[in-house]
Amino acid sequence: MNKIEICPSDALVEGGAGHRFRVMLSDGESSAFVLRVNNTVKGYVNRCSHVPVELDWNYGQFLDDSGLYIVCATHGASYDGESGACMGGPCDGKPLKALNVSETDGKIFWQPEDAVLPHPEGIEE
Ligand code: FES
Repeated sequence: MNKIEICPSDALVEGGAGHRFRVMLSDGESSAFVLRVNNTVKGYVNRCSHVPVELDWNYGQFLDDSGLYIVCATHGASYDGESGACMGGPCDGKPLKALNVSETDGKIFWQPEDAVLPHPEGIEE
């Protein structure tokens, strides 16, 4: 499957809001997101590893004040924004599901994989 364009590069500000899009997992639909952390674009499935609920504390808002950690709005699990690793709280060592994303020519792309596919009705929410 070809890479999919997610959004323009300038939609992602360092340490700022993420850009959400729709994906399909083996157990149904979900949202996912891309964001910019430490000048690198990262992407994750928008599901906490504690309970499979969305992470954002406001729509598209994932990072704490430092701009480095993704904090789950439900019970406060903390994840490294660059790796998705659990850094503390109820995630109990379990990481976020990372996506293969890249930045080329002013655009952000996602390479789908078997476990995370584009939503059949389109990825835009
Ligand atoms: S659901 Fe995310 S910390 Fe509990």
